[in-house]
Amino acid sequence: MSFRSVIVIGSGAAALSFATAMPKDTEITLLTKSTVTRSNSMLAQGGIASFHQAGDTAAAHLADTLAVGGGHNDVKVAAGIIEDGRHMLERLLEQRFPFDLDEQGEPQLGREGGHHVNRIFHAGGDATGKMLVRHLVERLGDNVRVMEQVTVYELLMEQGSCTGVLASHEETGLFEMRADAVVIAAGGCGSLFSRHTNDTTVTGDGLMMAYRAGAELTDLEFIQFHPTLLVHEGICYGLVSEAVRGEGGVIRDETGRRIMNGRHAMADLAPRDVVARVMHEEIRNGHSLYIDISGCRDFADRFPTISSLCEAAGIDIRESRIPVAPGMHFLMGGIRVNEWGESTVPGLYAIGEAACTGLHGANRLASNSLLEALVMGDRVAQRITQLVPGQFARESGRSLPAKEREGSYELPRMALEELQQRMSDNMSIQRSGEELRALYRWLHEVKLDPVHVQKITKEQLERLHLWQLAKLVTASALQREESRGAHFRVDFSVTDDDNWRGKQIIHSRNGIQ
Ligand code: SIN
Repeated sequence: MSFRSVIVIGSGAAALSFATAMPKDTEITLLTKSTVTRSNSMLAQGGIASFHQAGDTAAAHLADTLAVGGGHNDVKVAAGIIEDGRHMLERLLEQRFPFDLDEQGEPQLGREGGHHVNRIFHAGGDATGKMLVRHLVERLGDNVRVMEQVTVYELLMEQGSCTGVLASHEETGLFEMRADAVVIAAGGCGSLFSRHTNDTTVTGDGLMMAYRAGAELTDLEFIQFHPTLLVHEGICYGLVSEAVRGEGGVIRDETGRRIMNGRHAMADLAPRDVVARVMHEEIRNGHSLYIDISGCRDFADRFPTISSLCEAAGIDIRESRIPVAPGMHFLMGGIRVNEWGESTVPGLYAIGEAACTGLHGANRLASNSLLEALVMGDRVAQRITQLVPGQFARESGRSLPAKEREGSYELPRMALEELQQRMSDNMSIQRSGEELRALYRWLHEVKLDPVHVQKITKEQLERLHLWQLAKLVTASALQREESRGAHFRVDFSVTDDDNWRGKQIIHSRNGIQ
């Protein structure tokens, strides 16, 4: 008898939510480039947004999601994910997930940018992602095999459907593996920029593999820059959660001036795109910025992760000043999927940051990403269970002789640091047509030949993916001649609803639409 088999690429919250939700008679193989403890989910500090507090409702959570999303969200999808997210939260509460509690034993809800009420569930203070990953890993059944140090090179296609992967294990080399469905949960593309909050293993692999297999990518111009990364003496040490501002932290310049006063009704808790833009301008005008944490109670207890980052940076939190600057955080766009996580390629699903469901629109509301990861992992599990028959046994993996990698293909020189610097300079929080055109020309000077992709090293593959993705991201930002959410064009600085509302820029192998 052949059981249903599924390959999952990635090991963050979305991948694990999927794997724990699948029936135990399904053979799941979870492939991860590094280890299961390396993902953006592991680094997520803030928490999981869901309505809970008295008076808060699904409609209010949706209203904040849409207001922050700049009129670009898929309203039906967003409403559905917010509703289903509530059930996922209830499930976690039933499973006694160790959310931080208040004196009454109720979940202690935090506040972050763009939320009008406290609705962020958190754990371990600011270690929600890490605790969530651990919780889900503990719930993996015997039907789930986690293969670490495995880089997927290509999706295998048969008669227009995705039926497996060509991958390489660090020690044993290339192998093919067939499955009844493939789920991409490999995150976004933080490494496109010099300063980011992502795990360094996140290099756009899932997106570019899906693209090469014929899937559509969309909304790539919408890249979220988080306002507050701990940046000291030019070195970035990681994220300073927005929850710090939810607990009373405020952004000041070197003179003590509160820079968000008078810039938005929600001041320091304005949506991320607004705060990041103000900070970008202030820094360009020569100011240095910091979060004043003197208003935060018990900082070290509430924010142990950030306190450790401060220690690593040599910042003494007793002085109540954490130096900050914005940096790349999250890709709102991704592999175009429907509400069931189905991509435009049969057999291929995408979840988490790799996917674009339409929940986030042009700018993601804080702490909606772990929520989406949980919901979409669960939904894709339901979909595959209902619709995908079993055909391939897991043992269909076939080792390919090492000689198939011989004569490693020589890629043109692709200096990662230069790519990151140019992306940071020209595809930044504010972009202009002139800068984007210069970047686009430079990116196209490097000729890439994807045919030979399986013959290159892991590092070359990552660079190839970043380069290919940079071209698509830049083309999207150039094409969208308006400003909306996280996409701000200095030469088209207003939101142009007449020409752009509801329009998505879609990339596929056949070109750009
Ligand atoms: C944060 O803690 O500020 C980030 C949370 C998120 O990305 O939603």
